[in-house]
Amino acid sequence: MAISEPVARPVAADSTGVKNPYSVLPNWLYPAFVVVALSLFGAYALWVVFFQPLGYVKPYLSPFDSPPITLGRIPPAIWVAWAPLVFRLSCYYYRKAYFRSFFGHPRSCAVPEPKRRYRGETAFPWVFNNFHRFAFYATVVQVGFLWFDAILAFDFGGRFGIGFGSVLILANVLLLSGYTFGCHAFRHLAGGDLDCFSCSLAARARHRLWRGVTILNIKHDRWAWASLFSVAATDIYIRLLLAGVLHDPRWVS
Ligand code: FES
Repeated sequence: MAISEPVARPVAADSTGVKNPYSVLPNWLYPAFVVVALSLFGAYALWVVFFQPLGYVKPYLSPFDSPPITLGRIPPAIWVAWAPLVFRLSCYYYRKAYFRSFFGHPRSCAVPEPKRRYRGETAFPWVFNNFHRFAFYATVVQVGFLWFDAILAFDFGGRFGIGFGSVLILANVLLLSGYTFGCHAFRHLAGGDLDCFSCSLAARARHRLWRGVTILNIKHDRWAWASLFSVAATDIYIRLLLAGVLHDPRWVS
């Protein structure tokens, strides 16, 4: 059952004293999932960024290394992975998820703050979350490179083909686009700061864009998780090919 789906009968309060009236799932399940999933992904991302060589097996390039920049012995992901990582860290949805799950700060809506003095995101280090819009700009550029990589993933020495990696890379960039272009900051850029949506050609165009972004934005959390898993899965697959552990199934014309 979806976390937000209403239940027919009331659910007993758990030991935390914070009860979600819209779910039959135990209250600890979602925070535990967030802590485990984000911790695993964070550890994996740090391992790739600081210790791994370029994740490239012709014609597949890892999303951690796109665009590929190789300078001496410096791991290539260092030059590019900072943008999507900062983008996720400062994402409005992830902020809610990790503030609640890692810090209980606060544990849920409509419960008291655990700290007496609440300064929100006006003080170090959370004040840096206000740079989310700039991380969005950098990530849009990177998503452009990933689309280019997705096209190249169907090019097998000048012949069109489809490999399992091609499908994985295409699915990954679709999910990443759904996540990136459903961003709250982008939604504000598209339709915010306008008094009238129908008063000019430009305003009407922005309204259409805003409606499109809103469709993606409604399920922003789902896009966030799906794209997080697809990034990890794509990178793991390419590194297993690189290590010779897997063989890529291919259909080349
Ligand atoms: Fe989540 Fe911008 S709010 S990516």
